[in-house]
Amino acid sequence: MKYLQIAIDGPAGAGKSTIAQKLAKRLNITYIDTGSMYRALTYKVIKENINIHNKEQIINITNNVDMTISQDNIFIDGEDVTRNIRSQEVTKSVSYIAQIPEVRECLVRLQQKFATNNSVVMDGRDIGTHVLPNAAIKIFLTASIDERAHRRYNELIQKGEAVVYEDIKESIKARDKLDTERQHAPLKKAKDAIILDTTGLDVDIVVEKIIYIISQKS
Ligand code: DC
Repeated sequence: MKYLQIAIDGPAGAGKSTIAQKLAKRLNITYIDTGSMYRALTYKVIKENINIHNKEQIINITNNVDMTISQDNIFIDGEDVTRNIRSQEVTKSVSYIAQIPEVRECLVRLQQKFATNNSVVMDGRDIGTHVLPNAAIKIFLTASIDERAHRRYNELIQKGEAVVYEDIKESIKARDKLDTERQHAPLKKAKDAIILDTTGLDVDIVVEKIIYIISQKS
């Protein structure tokens, strides 16, 4: 049986997770948020008081980690960390940990394993370029920096966090810079990916556009 692979990449706040999640529900296939895997590892590194620049210890943790991911939750060493991985502290540090090649190799292996036995919508930064280079559908989602910053800001305000818009915008810019300029599997549009600019677009419209793209390809 041939499994359907849909790769969705793009910068922070472009709407990847919301769109990918809805798309997976519509298609009745599995959704994998690969960013949550880098975040879960970062959460563990912070919890164990390891310096985020201490590569050796981070690689050691990565190689011995027990990570399980289900449709809606992620667990590390049996602890449900789904909410904790969205903290500002994790968000600030995750791009440093995602730069380490050994960390990427380990998580990419897990991601590829998921996609061999399931039809998936997978979102991240390197899905179309590295994780699933043969994915049938590749989408590169973008949006203006102000729109992306507003989305994150509103999300955090709704959660009751006290945040300053300009800080959120600067933190997104800093993360984009680290993610696009890193040496190993940087954020980059795959040659065969279709660009969708979500600025000013409702989530459902973007999902419809992707469904249309899928229907045209099959
Ligand atoms: O999508 P997100 O904001 O949850 O991702 C968190 C971080 O993880 C992001 O700054 C870059 C990194 N990441 C990555 O390098 N490769 C992926 N496939 C997914 C995320």
